[in-house]
Amino acid sequence: MSNFTGQVAFISGAGSGIGRGIAEAFAAVGMKLVVGDVDSESVRKVAAALSDEGAEVISVDLDVADRASWDAATQNAQSEFGRIDILCNNAGVAGLTRAVEDIPIEEWRWMTDINLYGLVHGLQCVIPKLKAKGSGHIVNTSSIGGLVPLPNFSEYMAAKHAVIGLSGSVRRELEPFGIGVSVLCPGAVRTALGETTVRQRPGRAALAAARGNVVGELPWRYIEPIEVGRLTLKGIADNQAFIFTHPENRAEVEAEFDAMRAAFDALPN
Ligand SMILES: NC(=O)c1ccc[n+]([C@@H]2O[C@H](COP(=O)([O-])OP(=O)(O)OC[C@H]3O[C@@H](n4cnc5c(N)ncnc54)[C@H](O)[C@@H]3O)[C@@H](O)[C@H]2O)c1
Repeated sequence: MSNFTGQVAFISGAGSGIGRGIAEAFAAVGMKLVVGDVDSESVRKVAAALSDEGAEVISVDLDVADRASWDAATQNAQSEFGRIDILCNNAGVAGLTRAVEDIPIEEWRWMTDINLYGLVHGLQCVIPKLKAKGSGHIVNTSSIGGLVPLPNFSEYMAAKHAVIGLSGSVRRELEPFGIGVSVLCPGAVRTALGETTVRQRPGRAALAAARGNVVGELPWRYIEPIEVGRLTLKGIADNQAFIFTHPENRAEVEAEFDAMRAAFDALPN
């Protein structure tokens, strides 16, 4: 896909951060936008700001963990623009940053409902529409952590690793239908992820406060969400299987592959 003008993109979690950055980058190339978020107020403000800049955009209320909410939101998109061409399955919440045995199982389930099943609902809702048209592109937001897992982020890394597997499987599944699939693996991006997570689930504030500094100093290089949006656009244009954001992550990914290579080398002949 390379001519973006007039294409209709549906972006989840567009009320803030990377979703908003994607929406801004898409608007800049003339796409029509449906921006969805569980935070109605923030996503309405994003739509108003994009509209002021000249974009054709609607906002929709969307809780990605709820299939009925997906059905209603995509029905709104269909009524407004007649179709969806690009799905950015981007909404997500932050990890608790605690030792694996200290993350209550309900928090595992809550995160997985959003960071994994939230994307599955989006796929199950939108793919039939793309198949009917015989074209389209899907971008699933994982994380570089989905490939290079950090300690004390187990429930987040598990969900993001699952999104890599989900995307690879669905990419192969949809290739014969003329539909592209990319998995977006951002490194550190300057967003409100911690704050928006606690706003949605206030009980996590106390759990996070009780955690102590298990993660330690993280010398990450933060980039702006709009940069991720531009890279996403390029990834769609080139139908990249993976969309990365930080060249410095390459060595960490290669180290993971080195460990696998070493395990194959260690096999008896
Ligand atoms: N910020 C980073 O460094 C980083 C790195 C790698 C991956 N990511 C991923 O990028 C995605 C976007 O996060 P962000 O960093 O922009 O954070 P953010 O908090 O700024 O934006 C996330 C948005 O998703 C929305 N959201 C949360 N739960 C939702 C739900 N159930 N239904 C609909 N909307 C919901 C939030 O309200 C928020 O507007 C997430 O999947 C996150 O895991 C972020």
